[in-house]
Amino acid sequence: MADPRRVAVLISGRGSNMAALVRHGRASRSYEVVLVAASSPRATGLDWARADGLPTFVLPGKAISREQGEEALTRAFDDHRIGTIALAGYMRLLSPAFVAHWRGQIVNIHPSLLPSYRGLDTHARALADGATVAGCTVHLVTEEVDSGEILARAEVPILPGDDPAALARRVLEAEHRLYGPALADFISRRSLQG
Ligand code: GRF
Repeated sequence: MADPRRVAVLISGRGSNMAALVRHGRASRSYEVVLVAASSPRATGLDWARADGLPTFVLPGKAISREQGEEALTRAFDDHRIGTIALAGYMRLLSPAFVAHWRGQIVNIHPSLLPSYRGLDTHARALADGATVAGCTVHLVTEEVDSGEILARAEVPILPGDDPAALARRVLEAEHRLYGPALADFISRRSLQG
């Protein structure tokens, strides 16, 4: 049977948040990352996951439809008794059908203080606006991008002379600190609800 404490992480790139989630799960024993799924075989985070001995799943390529790809993903999740899905730099849009199937079980980390700066290029947009504070947000995933219930946020001050790359580096460190504890808290609240 699916278990909220059994977590799949979805990545598209380097997977540094995925590694932070794996480590926090082990250190806190509050959940376990049991599967890493990637939108592409080129996601470099797959190398880390494989070296760590974690099972991995790569979404089938363009030869099949998005729906068929997501059905394969759901089968893999069911095989691993996944109860919670954590997006970590996952760059593919999930279909409304997939989000509905896993409603209330998918979380994401976004590199801005939501509801400000949904979507891409968050740091460049915050700097262009003259913002003084940036940050990151862990939120529930719904059909609308970066709009589900906010679970946790961390602020990161914008410093004089910051450019998007420098700001992104500091926000990423905050992401690594925020995501694991926020995921653990989300899972424990759901486990208590039964
Ligand atoms: C992170 O900044 C995350 O918030 C954003 O994409 C980046 C992924 O980085 N959605 P990584 O793959 O976790 O290193």
